[in-house]
Amino acid sequence: MDARIVLLPGDGIGPEIIDQAELVLNAVAEKGGHALSFERCPIGGNAIDDFGDPLPEQTVEACRNSQAILLGAVGGPKWDDPTAKTRPEAGLLKIRRELKLFANLRPVKTFDCLMDSSPLKRSVLEGTDILFFRELTGGIYFGDSGRSTTETGEESAYSTMIYSTSEVERIVRLAAAAAMQRGKKLTSVDKANVLEVSRLWRQVAERVVKEEFPELEYEVVLVDAMAMHLISRPSTFDVVVTGNMFGDILTDEASMLPGSLGMLPSASLGESGPGLYEPIHGSAPDIAGKGIANPLATILAAAMMLRHSLGLEDEAADIERAVDAVLDAGHRTADLAGKGETSIGTVEMGQRVVEALQKA
Ligand code: NAI
Ligand code: MG
Repeated sequence: MDARIVLLPGDGIGPEIIDQAELVLNAVAEKGGHALSFERCPIGGNAIDDFGDPLPEQTVEACRNSQAILLGAVGGPKWDDPTAKTRPEAGLLKIRRELKLFANLRPVKTFDCLMDSSPLKRSVLEGTDILFFRELTGGIYFGDSGRSTTETGEESAYSTMIYSTSEVERIVRLAAAAAMQRGKKLTSVDKANVLEVSRLWRQVAERVVKEEFPELEYEVVLVDAMAMHLISRPSTFDVVVTGNMFGDILTDEASMLPGSLGMLPSASLGESGPGLYEPIHGSAPDIAGKGIANPLATILAAAMMLRHSLGLEDEAADIERAVDAVLDAGHRTADLAGKGETSIGTVEMGQRVVEALQKA
């Protein structure tokens, strides 16, 4: 298989972790006889410094002409000036919008050897492997909003949550199709006891599942109950689909389950065109340039890229197994190491994953 991949290293630890993901992808390509080509483009703070724009046109063009995009992270204190015309994050928001990436996928899996660093008990965490589908371009973050002042001078503000049938259909379809490839269970999360927009969501989701995915085990859960179930019985969920704001909150809650931010990848997909893959953590300016950042979330994001954009499921699973093997062998970056445990750096962790892949 031939594929053009755009790498957007970004700021802070971004370039360090992207280097390791590229080495892992090269190892996969070599093993499977795939021709993956990589192009590096600027985004974020460094792009503001060099081009006065957090998302230069050349980056957008390269992304459009690619099959998939792997991003490090953007931002840092250097660009935090509140009076600045533009901020690094604007580059990220713009590329998502340009490519119409409406589905945000976040797998949350617990790793056996890291369970003791999670705030939850091992017995609760065991077997947890959830794939969240968060709608990313609609809902309350994009609905009409405004402020007004009454005659008495009191201020009020409103934000509206709006979803159309087609917006619900396309995200539920993607989530249901993914569930068919995994544990064949789909959970849709809403607030249909209170919100009209959720009643539409529920109605559309049920129809799509019944008509197109009748073999799925399907359930609906109210968002407040879901917040409890995620920490009382996370292992009972397979694929979870929900709207923008509920997904924002629930995925952050769920990100605590594996025990470290440095292990969590994500993907943003559109109807067609390239997907965008990235770790969920930020640019970690506090450790940038020290060679100690954990590259595993980015390496796992590269695995998601092979699975969802390039159709290389076996190769994706190979990377995931290699990461498991490296952790099982006791290798830890500083963020994963327990008290008194020795740790390895970014480059060495990448190298260990490459070796595990070559051995497998
Ligand atoms: P952060 O995720 O960058 O860091 C939070 C803490 O986790 C820090 O102590 C950091 O050292 C640690 N950490 C994060 N990733 C790690 C890794 N791979 N290995 C080891 N330790 C890791 O979040 P923070 O500090 O709130 O934001 C820093 C900058 O990143 C800000 O400018 C923020 O705007 C930006 N950011 C960018 C995101 C993106 O590009 N998608 C997402 C979140 C934040
Ligand atoms: Mg959030």
